[in-house]
Amino acid sequence: MSYAQVYGQWQKDPEGFWLSAAEGLDWVKKPVKALDDSRAPLYEWFTDAQVNTCWNAVDRHVIAGRGKQPAIIHDSPVTGTKHVITYAELQDRVSRLAGALKAKGIVKGDRVIIYMPMVPEALEAMLACARLGAIHSVVFGGFAANELAVRIDDCTPKAIIAASCGIELNRVVHYKPLLDAAIDQADHKPDFCVIFQREQEVAKLTPGRDVAWHEFQYGVTPADCVPVEGNHPAYILYTSGTTGAPKGVVRPTAGHLVALNWTMAAIYNVGAGDVFWAASDVGWVVGHSYICYAPLIAGCTTIVYEGKPVGTPDAAAFWRVINEHKVKSFFTAPTALRAIKRDDPEGKLVPSLPTLQALYLAGERADPDTIHWAQNHLKVPVIDHWWQTETGYAIAANPLGIEHLPVKIGSPSVAMPGYDVQVLDEGGHPVSPGTLGAIAIKLPLPPGTLPTLWNAEDRFRRSYLNHFPGYYETGDAGYVDADGYLYIMARTDDVINVAGHRLSTGAMEEVLASHKDVAECAVIGVADDLKGQSPLGFLCLNKGSNRPHDEVVKECVKLMRDQIGPVADFKRAVVVDRLPKTRSGKILRGTMVKIADSQPWKMPATIDDPTILDEITTALKSLGFARG
Ligand code: COA
Ligand code: AMP
Repeated sequence: MSYAQVYGQWQKDPEGFWLSAAEGLDWVKKPVKALDDSRAPLYEWFTDAQVNTCWNAVDRHVIAGRGKQPAIIHDSPVTGTKHVITYAELQDRVSRLAGALKAKGIVKGDRVIIYMPMVPEALEAMLACARLGAIHSVVFGGFAANELAVRIDDCTPKAIIAASCGIELNRVVHYKPLLDAAIDQADHKPDFCVIFQREQEVAKLTPGRDVAWHEFQYGVTPADCVPVEGNHPAYILYTSGTTGAPKGVVRPTAGHLVALNWTMAAIYNVGAGDVFWAASDVGWVVGHSYICYAPLIAGCTTIVYEGKPVGTPDAAAFWRVINEHKVKSFFTAPTALRAIKRDDPEGKLVPSLPTLQALYLAGERADPDTIHWAQNHLKVPVIDHWWQTETGYAIAANPLGIEHLPVKIGSPSVAMPGYDVQVLDEGGHPVSPGTLGAIAIKLPLPPGTLPTLWNAEDRFRRSYLNHFPGYYETGDAGYVDADGYLYIMARTDDVINVAGHRLSTGAMEEVLASHKDVAECAVIGVADDLKGQSPLGFLCLNKGSNRPHDEVVKECVKLMRDQIGPVADFKRAVVVDRLPKTRSGKILRGTMVKIADSQPWKMPATIDDPTILDEITTALKSLGFARG
């Protein structure tokens, strides 16, 4: 069947389409109905079913005779180790960890925060939660204690599972002191913490609260899988919104299973026994969907890579992993390829890659230079696909497992079944092909996408549903061409994308504003050759502050690292007298971005005082921007 036929089949009978996709899973109680629209515009899927994620990702493969097949390969150049875990071993390890959690009182619906680097134990912790119907929330290691504290208070976990440390190129990341600081800072306190001690740094445990990973599991009875309702939350993953408070995206269990299983065959063209690698981090949605769940649900071998695209040891690291472990489908962010291209512009370090079938890119806009470089040197199709934490899998892609559509560089191709993507004008009316507008998806969203935000249904409605009634607002702007190919051009909100990491300029402004000398501030995302975008701060100091500007800037950079974390990558700020604003007081961030990036710009008609833009241009020039 062609892509058009499959998409048409879904359009004609969405209920039948998803019930048929559900056949690929093991159910405790099979769904009779797919969509539950009883609370529209809030929708849920497979609410009448009973299922367990861990069973589908682990146990059923052992029963099907895949016990000896590698489930996880941990390849860790930063520690110089490699380790294979088979499906049978994974079943044993996960059921024991789940047994230990159960013995300590973790039951279905309890929240468990996981704060771990790229080690197989992170996946095991996620799966152990899924086994019990506990709701995990994984927090990325590059966040500071404050961000962890915010998440602890929002999802009120009964337990936290953490590692003693992570390893970055230039340093050991001390997870345990960060965890201790976060628990001190949070109002909510977990009952207990399980600490996975790594030999690179053994952490000091807090008596009465912390227990070591192995000791915790000693002599426990392994736990069986607990059936949960189809709409039971599988996990909460926090992502950046417009304000400092992150949004807790809820992932529903059954839709997640059905949709991810469908994507493995249809988009990534892999099945049981194939090796799949997503070079991301378990702290991001790509890590949840395509390092942990989808490859395991599909019976593939997944790679947990604890390293970087460059520097561990060089720009050939990805190609070594692909060849050594016989990877068939590979997924990464464009920024990682840009880092490789920068070190190896002529592709001299790229060997022949006989097992590789395709390269998938997502997380940010894939620039044509990077795609060309990858096409020329990897000699496989390069598939850009577009998705968000909220959806959990691709909204638009080139579905290699169905049909390899012609690639149009600059476009993540076409809408996947389940998604009726429309480009709307400000009034919510669809615009004609080629016209730029807000990208929205006609409700209902397909299975597996967020049904709500954790503890924040009102915010869910305000953030996604209210602006364009009947649609989900993606927050991205772009257009569709005459062939139905989508082009994602920019965000319509205060979210920026730094090295494939989604960050909120609003959250950064809140941090800067907390500095005692800062009266007012703005953060914008300026173009960056390597990371796509990079944050840049503008600071107006309090009247009477005579502190040297470079001192205040240094303190602000440190404050951001302490409050949000190194992942914010906030390294540059400049002191200015005033910020450009509209007459109603809105800061003209968009105009500042255009000036910084040397893009053509028009004087906004609503500007209060046009002369401020001269001052901003001078400040930007002092930092090496606005040179065009
Ligand atoms: N734990 C702790 N710190 C982390 C971290 C983690 N898991 N991940 C990143 N950091 C730190 C880095 O060490 C760096 O700290 P520094 O300021 O002390 O150098 C900072 O956060 C910024 O990191 P990053 O933006 O990743 O920059 P980098 O220079 O270390 O690496 C790339 C650049 C391009 C190699 C890297 O960004 C990369 O591999 N990106 C791919 C991203 C990706 O896969 N995203 C997933 C979305 S699909
Ligand atoms: P995240 O929730 O971190 O996955 O970030 C989602 C956002 O990243 C999207 O809303 C887009 O702005 C951007 N994004 C993701 N994939 C792509 C892509 N293929 N092309 C352009 N932008 C993308």
